[in-house]
Amino acid sequence: MRKKLIAGNWKMNLCAKEAESFTKEMKGTVNTDAADVVFCVPYVHLSAVRDILAGTHIKVGAQNMHYAEDGAYTGEISAKMLASMDIPYVIVGHSERREYFKESDTEVNLKALTALNSGLTPIICIGETSKQRKSKRTFNVIRKQLAFAIDEMSAEDIAKIVIAYEPVWAIGTGETATKEQAEEVCALIRDEIKAAHGAAAADAVRILYGGSVSPDNAGELFSMPNIDGGLVGGASLKSTFEKVVHF
Ligand code: 13P
Repeated sequence: MRKKLIAGNWKMNLCAKEAESFTKEMKGTVNTDAADVVFCVPYVHLSAVRDILAGTHIKVGAQNMHYAEDGAYTGEISAKMLASMDIPYVIVGHSERREYFKESDTEVNLKALTALNSGLTPIICIGETSKQRKSKRTFNVIRKQLAFAIDEMSAEDIAKIVIAYEPVWAIGTGETATKEQAEEVCALIRDEIKAAHGAAAADAVRILYGGSVSPDNAGELFSMPNIDGGLVGGASLKSTFEKVVHF
């Protein structure tokens, strides 16, 4: 039985004092062992948020990392640095990074492999654009992004990673995928993993849905058989995130 995972992606929001007071507020309402809850926060807030959440069930994640171990990459952060700060999760390949920072499928794969090597759990994002969905290319796009993302991974690696299906057209738009649309793609992802890496890896890997998740739709989405929780943007920055966590 896979444990649900609800990850909040704060994106580039909240200044220091706001991040601290919001974390303190949420600590009281989303601290549960019924699901894994993760706050993926901007790098500059990682230590403060981690310290506030110490002793709770809530974990902290980063929103990106570089794939190199270390070196001359001004402005970048490595997986080793995150691991050394006891940050267990990192988002890789978010569609905003693919779009605005031109991250390629190959870079996403390198980041995921480096994260695993450093003992981090990568939350790997894949998802089709509106144009791709309208032209009925969703399945092909997902198959391709997934194949790149998990290249060179063993079945044991696959069992540790998290995949977030985030249709680009549903992100920040209020236009959530229906539970059937989300389930169909999450099931495809699991089937592809089963074909490539066997039933044990497919049963273990957690597959999340992301894109305009809210307190109103979390319950029906997260109750689908192949959806193991959510990657939540805007709704993770509100007090009502508690309702998403306790869907
Ligand atoms: P929204 O929940 O704001 O649509 O964002 C989803 C997302 O991009 C999470 O990574």
